[in-house]
Amino acid sequence: MKDISGVGWRVMFGSCLDRLKDLGDESVDSVVCDPPYELGFMGKSWDSTGIAYNVDVWRECLRVLKPGGHILAFGGSRTWHRLAVAVEDAGFELRDSIAWLYGSGFPKSLDVSKAIDKAAGAERESLHDPNANRRNKVARKFWSSSDPENSAVTAPATDDAKKWQGWGTALKPAFEPVVVGRKPLVGTVAANVLTYGVGGLNIDGTRIGTIGGTHKINPVKDSKTENAYGIGLNGGTVSQLGAGRWPANVMLDEYTAALLDQQSGVSKSQSGTLTITKSDGGWNRQDKGMFDAGRSSTFEGYGDSGGASRFFYVAKASKRDRNEGLDELPEVEAKSTHSGGEDTRGRPIPVNRNIHPTVKPTDLMRQLVRLVTPLGGVVLDPFTGSGSTGKAAILEGFQFIGVELTEEYLPIIQGRIDWAVNQVAVDAAKQDEALF
Ligand SMILES: C[S@@+](CC[C@H](N)C(=O)[O-])C[C@H]1O[C@@H](n2cnc3c(N)ncnc32)[C@H](O)[C@@H]1O
Repeated sequence: MKDISGVGWRVMFGSCLDRLKDLGDESVDSVVCDPPYELGFMGKSWDSTGIAYNVDVWRECLRVLKPGGHILAFGGSRTWHRLAVAVEDAGFELRDSIAWLYGSGFPKSLDVSKAIDKAAGAERESLHDPNANRRNKVARKFWSSSDPENSAVTAPATDDAKKWQGWGTALKPAFEPVVVGRKPLVGTVAANVLTYGVGGLNIDGTRIGTIGGTHKINPVKDSKTENAYGIGLNGGTVSQLGAGRWPANVMLDEYTAALLDQQSGVSKSQSGTLTITKSDGGWNRQDKGMFDAGRSSTFEGYGDSGGASRFFYVAKASKRDRNEGLDELPEVEAKSTHSGGEDTRGRPIPVNRNIHPTVKPTDLMRQLVRLVTPLGGVVLDPFTGSGSTGKAAILEGFQFIGVELTEEYLPIIQGRIDWAVNQVAVDAAKQDEALF
């Protein structure tokens, strides 16, 4: 199998351990990736080789990154500590962690009481489950196909099982951490940014919009201005505030955002000029990030209202996302939620052309690549999977280089990223039409 490519992108076939050697020193602007979580997920052999913990991979990423360039790497909630250590041992400075919160996970928990009865050879009486109809249809499908015994509602048979009724072994998965690292700077941030074009985070480009969704920049249009938003929030103006809130290190999917809003109810942020001192320092403190204890500062309030999710980036779910551009590929029945049997809103998707089991939402990946990549920069993903980072990078106007070990994912990558290239062209044509 050969490498694959298109306009503004290429993906090298093979192990990143070997193929990253084909890239020059300081040749990419950011690394955004989703390495194996090393859990043997869905029985995939690529998910248990230990590659995510291999310091040599991250050393290669460090070499090909420009000084000051950022790396964002997803990890599993119970394995990411080893990923983080490997990234740090390779020479990256760990700067932060981002928590990606989602609502589509299912607890894979062993019922302790049932396990005790099973070990004792005791038969449990089947009970009517009053909640059965209220349960999510997809969840029922998942459980019934994967573990009917664990999901059936039954009464404990032995005394020991009665004692342990209600105990399990796992929580519902609802977050994935992202390691945020930076290649050491050469000199100060200012000097590094001027020399290498990287070293900072694109705060204005990833602000949380106050009128719904993230404020999207137009890379072509905004590059002509010195600063797309004229930001400098000390005593900011209404137009500056219109660009949105400071991006947080927590990001949500729509389902989690809806749950949060349901719990928080509607609150109104203050508007107009507000002078705050240490004693009322809770107000929008995290947004401004420049509130000196013991001193007074004057800010403009956002003056908007809504649920608590408006403080965070919310990735929009798209039913079409994973299969866009794959019309030529065969449809395969999705066996469970974990092979893409539902979208992030929990709506069932019965068949998929994209058979990758761990597809990240493009909307989320767009926010992440935009956060760490300069205008027109090159994004690297050494674990391309079905190409979500590449699709996001192209839609954001960046170039993309990927590496992927598993041959069967290459046609999926090709279809999805080519689709993005075409989409950018269609959007540009529409914009031209509207202008002239
Ligand atoms: C978690 S998945 C990435 C999924 C991707 N984010 C998406 O949205 O489709 C990790 C990918 O890394 C690939 N992989 C595993 N070991 C690799 C290696 N040594 N070199 C390159 N790719 C590798 C696997 O084949 C898998 O597709």
